[in-house]
Amino acid sequence: MHRNLFLSRKKYWILVFCFLTIVYFSLFKKNQKFETKAQVIHVALASCGSSRIDETFNMIKSSVINTKSPIHFYIFTEFENQDLFKIEFKKWPRNFVKKFNFEFLEPEFPKSNDIDWKGMYAPCSAQRLFLPSIMKNVDSVLYIDSDSLVLKDLKLFWDQFKDFDEFQMIGAAWEAEQESLSYYNSSINVPFYGKKGINAGILMMNFTRMREFEFIEKLIPYAKKYTNLRWGDQCLLNIVLHFNPKIVKLIDCSWNYRLEHCRFLVSECRNAENYGIGILHGSRQVFKKTNFYDEPIFRSVYKFFNQYDFELDSKSEIHQVMTKLFLENKVTNEFCGLRKNLFLKSLQINLL
Ligand SMILES: *[C@@H]1O[C@H](CO)[C@@H](O)[C@H](O)[C@H]1NC(C)=O
Ligand SMILES: *[C@@H]1O[C@H](CO)[C@@H](O)[C@H](O)[C@H]1NC(C)=O
Repeated sequence: MHRNLFLSRKKYWILVFCFLTIVYFSLFKKNQKFETKAQVIHVALASCGSSRIDETFNMIKSSVINTKSPIHFYIFTEFENQDLFKIEFKKWPRNFVKKFNFEFLEPEFPKSNDIDWKGMYAPCSAQRLFLPSIMKNVDSVLYIDSDSLVLKDLKLFWDQFKDFDEFQMIGAAWEAEQESLSYYNSSINVPFYGKKGINAGILMMNFTRMREFEFIEKLIPYAKKYTNLRWGDQCLLNIVLHFNPKIVKLIDCSWNYRLEHCRFLVSECRNAENYGIGILHGSRQVFKKTNFYDEPIFRSVYKFFNQYDFELDSKSEIHQVMTKLFLENKVTNEFCGLRKNLFLKSLQINLL
């Protein structure tokens, strides 16, 4: 009697064990959306308020169009925006949506009485500085501003993490390639990195190293000391990098191509000219606005992705669509319009 009871208990536990194993594996499998063992590219972005949301859709769309590897997006946005993303993704072809994963994260800043993190520069752009502490389980990401369009396979960008030396944890491009074009050289009165300062719009971030380095803890005192920051958190990042230059890895300008690289007489980004633009960054709202820096060629590329035809299947079709957009947007041979061929070539290189 006693012995039987013991046996049945044992069987019972074996059953429970089997059951739990099955549950565990079926759940685990569900989370593995990507079937292949391909390297997943992790991309973080922040999109607060409603005015930037279209830009963000196009950023995501262009990344997926041009990247063969699966991408996992970490989307920082307010709760009320989440449905808008889901509705947009539903409009895209199913096999296209299968190529990426996404998760939403609520914008989150350290509690502070004396620093307005959220209001610093554009809404929630300062978010990027705090990613390492919020995304505790993530090793590394590419941080990409929502006003950007990805024109090359992000794997080529991601692979540059391998080039970091033992101290480097943040990859960033110069604010401008030429000193005379950098705002840091002429009009900024806070310390900044190197001779030209870096642009914070596109960053490679190794969170594991940033956490170890206590990056955020090191940043806060600077935020208290320097209160008049022309470009908000980008200036703050420059200040930290000024005092800790070893942690930066300079990345090529073609991965953060802005109007500084084509607008002015001395503008140049040689690698983009030779090998195409990697990420087109529409800072100063150049994808949308027509005032101040009017760059119809940036607007044309933006519209190309905005109205992207998922059926496009030849280089000549891209040429046709772009020629039409150049006409509609009145692209001339002025300023960045002079480099029409570079923009066109960049779209054609990778797209098909
Ligand atoms: C980030 O740094 C950690 C610690 O040095 C390293 O183990 C990891 O491979 C790095 N991540 C990438 C993507 O290089
Ligand atoms: C900026 O850089 C240029 C070119 O290197 C240099 O001549 C100039 O003195 C620097 N400072 C300002 C304020 O432009």
